[in-house]
Amino acid sequence: MDYKKYIAEKLQIEGVSSDEIYDLLALPPNTEMGDYALPCFKFAKILRKSPVMIAESLKDAVTTDEVISEVSAVNGYLNFKINKDGFVRATLDKILSQKEKYGADNIGAGKTVCIDYSSINIAKPFHIGHLSTTVLGGALYRIFNYLGYQAVGINHLGDYGTQFGKLISAYKRWGDKETIEKGGIRALNELYVRFHKEAEIHPEYDDEARAYFKKIEQGDEECLALFHWFKDLTLKDVQKIYDMLDIHFDSYAGESFYSDKMQPIVDELKDKGLLTESRGAQVVDLEEYGMPPCIILKSDGSSLYATRDMAAAQYRKTTYDFDKCLYVVAYQQNLHFKQFFKVLEMMGKDWAKDLVHVAYGMVSLEEGVMSTRKGNVVFLEDVINKCIEKAYTIIDEKNPDLENKEEVAKKVGVGAVIFGALYNNKIKDIVFSYDKVLNFDGETSVYVQYTCARANSVLQKGGAPESFEIPTLCSQEIELVKALATFPDTVKAAAEKYEPSFIARFAVDVSQKFNKFYFDCKILSAEDETTKKFRLALTNATLQALTNAFALLGIGIPDKM
Ligand code: ARG
Repeated sequence: MDYKKYIAEKLQIEGVSSDEIYDLLALPPNTEMGDYALPCFKFAKILRKSPVMIAESLKDAVTTDEVISEVSAVNGYLNFKINKDGFVRATLDKILSQKEKYGADNIGAGKTVCIDYSSINIAKPFHIGHLSTTVLGGALYRIFNYLGYQAVGINHLGDYGTQFGKLISAYKRWGDKETIEKGGIRALNELYVRFHKEAEIHPEYDDEARAYFKKIEQGDEECLALFHWFKDLTLKDVQKIYDMLDIHFDSYAGESFYSDKMQPIVDELKDKGLLTESRGAQVVDLEEYGMPPCIILKSDGSSLYATRDMAAAQYRKTTYDFDKCLYVVAYQQNLHFKQFFKVLEMMGKDWAKDLVHVAYGMVSLEEGVMSTRKGNVVFLEDVINKCIEKAYTIIDEKNPDLENKEEVAKKVGVGAVIFGALYNNKIKDIVFSYDKVLNFDGETSVYVQYTCARANSVLQKGGAPESFEIPTLCSQEIELVKALATFPDTVKAAAEKYEPSFIARFAVDVSQKFNKFYFDCKILSAEDETTKKFRLALTNATLQALTNAFALLGIGIPDKM
């Protein structure tokens, strides 16, 4: 809880805003005087009274409550004492009664947020670059739902373009059904890579590929069947990863879904006089906004990525009537989003202001750690599996007798991959390192998981108390409770800034404070029964808050480690 804010809002001083009061509130020179002090010297001019008199009259006007236990006026300062017992009581009661709902809210009731995330490309590898969009989007999806919004998860599949013509051409020339069925995305990708190599020597393959793509568009039965087969195989393959990461979508409407929905957009652009011709292509000029033109139709009349995105935005508005539509996509595509958002605005769509590009940085692997395949792509599935394996080795070393080691290793390994992508501010580029994300003493998910296991083990032995009293509090306890109390605001801030990292940081902060409390204060052998019960309740509340935070990030917590 922000006491300064609480005090600033409670105080009413004529002609002074609560923000000004907030800025003036400071810590008194010694804690005997109080927890916060407001110097009244600045108000003398406005109120035309001496600071001493101002402090005196403010003191008489402020009533004490469950937060402020004492107010005093000393030499022109107004001093406040905070009722920590009341605050601790209120915080723990809230956590322990709301349980898995602690931090949830209904500020989003009646509002819809579309979230376009993961948005993979069919027949292309699901590589480490897709990690951030998938886990960031997944976390935002859960966070918005938790706050009462109706979140709509959309996987805007990249399933349109000549690459599917290439794939058909390659498959017909070198592919066989069984290999592809067995190999899935990897086998499809190999075909694709081979096509590119061979087309360098045989440019006629490219013409053939274009022809096949045309056939798909025209609804040729054989080509369409192959296309759908590639799509099904890709989705089946990728589902394994979504299952591991606990990722869900409400819609898989991808680019091809908009094939027949672009014409109205093109017509509207034409009607509104926004289209101009540039070297045979139809474009919207954006020079005025300092951007290159947004190409709507190529000279051969075919559509572009932006055209399909505009049709998709319109479709989403019509279908879901969103309050916000988020695009969780790497910052490399900044220009693309700026351009088509601007074009929609120029078309007079007032909802264009509700489109948000949630941009994030690059993820690369620490060099030399793993160089998979030709093509240099690192499959995300391999990264996750390697993390699980490494987690297993560490757990086996630390606690060879642990039951369900495999189950635990899975939660730890998968958690490490997710947390590694979510811990930093999303716009930062990150270098993924196995050692770093699996460091038991670092700012990691396994550190948080281990903290939870520790809390769990204490609760197993001492039991979670039904009721408790507040004993004389020590600073470790107060610091921990203060951290726990920030969770509801943290969740809201994470939604407002599209920044799940706030929740990841909350979890690490709480874990660090819990561990300090755990090592400095005795829980099970506390000095008296009241203290013991209180500490058990605090432990229970900590476990609850961490569990809630990790659930929003999509990370499981093992009971024992
Ligand atoms: N499939 C695209 C890619 O991998 C991402 C699509 C993002 N979503 C969108 N509506 N443009 O780059």
